[in-house]
Amino acid sequence: MNILVTGGAGYIGSHTCVELLNAGHNVVVLDNLCNSSEKCLDAVRSLTGKDFPFYKVDLLDYDATNRVFEENKIDSVIHFAGLKAVGESVKIPLRYYHNNITGTLNLVDIMEKHNVYNIVFSSSATVYGMPKTVPITEDFPLSTTNPYGSTKLMIENILQDVYTANNKWSITLLRYFNPIGAHKSGTMGEDPKGIPNNLLPYVAQVAVGKLEKIHVFGNDYPTVDGTGVRDYIHVVDLAIGHLKSIEIKTGESGVHIYNLGTGNGYSVLQIIHAFEKACGKTLPYQIDPRRPGDIAECYANAKKAEKELGWKAERGIDEMCEDSWRWQSTHPDGFNS
Ligand code: NAD
Ligand code: UFG
Repeated sequence: MNILVTGGAGYIGSHTCVELLNAGHNVVVLDNLCNSSEKCLDAVRSLTGKDFPFYKVDLLDYDATNRVFEENKIDSVIHFAGLKAVGESVKIPLRYYHNNITGTLNLVDIMEKHNVYNIVFSSSATVYGMPKTVPITEDFPLSTTNPYGSTKLMIENILQDVYTANNKWSITLLRYFNPIGAHKSGTMGEDPKGIPNNLLPYVAQVAVGKLEKIHVFGNDYPTVDGTGVRDYIHVVDLAIGHLKSIEIKTGESGVHIYNLGTGNGYSVLQIIHAFEKACGKTLPYQIDPRRPGDIAECYANAKKAEKELGWKAERGIDEMCEDSWRWQSTHPDGFNS
């Protein structure tokens, strides 16, 4: 299959490109590199021994995006491209709405023009807002608590409407839980710009000595040890989830929705201890107040993906931390190391 991967130079997109290429598919990558490096694509090429076209294109540029479809025969699109920092989205909401929503509107319009009706979209567990119970199934009520989350929910709704208007579409909405880890080779991984917002890259940067200590946001939640619980999933498992989705759902009319998580929750302190084991160091941390907007517990029921896609996350928390550490310790400054 010929697959256009928007945001393919990013963290999850690049790992997905590796799995798609290794499975024998052809990829075309479109990315404006606003949060990634072209060096990541060199790593994808050297890991797979395969070459592919890369377009440094912004989805907001309609004509340039259209040219990618004119110059390549595309069967299916995996749409990762988007801005993703929750805190930043609260400060600059218009940039988030414009980038994520207008970018998707352009993409879908151009796809229709070129008779490409298969799309897999990167949604997020954030569309469940403040879930009343866990584990979360796909039919839970949807709501959001910040502009980033709202863009995800709005795009889900837009894609539902696109399908209602034209049943030729095959739309797959993948709701990711918390992706962490890195490729086993240690040559690719998460490369956040500035101080990381998410727990794992923050912990990894403390371990490598770039940051002084971990700030644990609250230890008075009703959880196993009082700290927040999340469903951390290895980025390679997530990438394989995309491969399965594209292979099974392409051409099947409808809107298909799946949680991609492990079904297991780990607390902040459990993650810190797993990372200590992986890096062989004791990591300093302090307890801070709760972070506004955070929920106590969030983990998936991922049975639907197992049943319908034949996909199940296989990598455990120790492997996630070991792989993150291999990448971080050999690339303390990410792709600029
Ligand atoms: P990332 O920032 O590493 O990758 C996104 C890529 O999209 C980047 O390479 C960026 O340069 C590119 N991009 C952004 N706007 C663009 C535009 N207008 N035109 C072209 N390229 C553009 O992020 P990631 O962690 O790989 O996330 C991929 C997708 O998964 C995003 O849509 C994100 O919202 C979603 N997601 C991520 C997480 C997570 O915790 N990482 C969780 C749930 C959902
Ligand atoms: N945390 C800390 N200290 C930190 C960072 C985080 O204690 O420095 C805690 C948080 O309070 C939370 C847990 O670690 O309990 C995980 O926080 P992250 O910021 O790593 O992840 P979130 O669950 O808040 O959100 C992430 C993405 C969202 C996405 C969501 C579900 O940032 O975009 O996962 O996929 F929607």
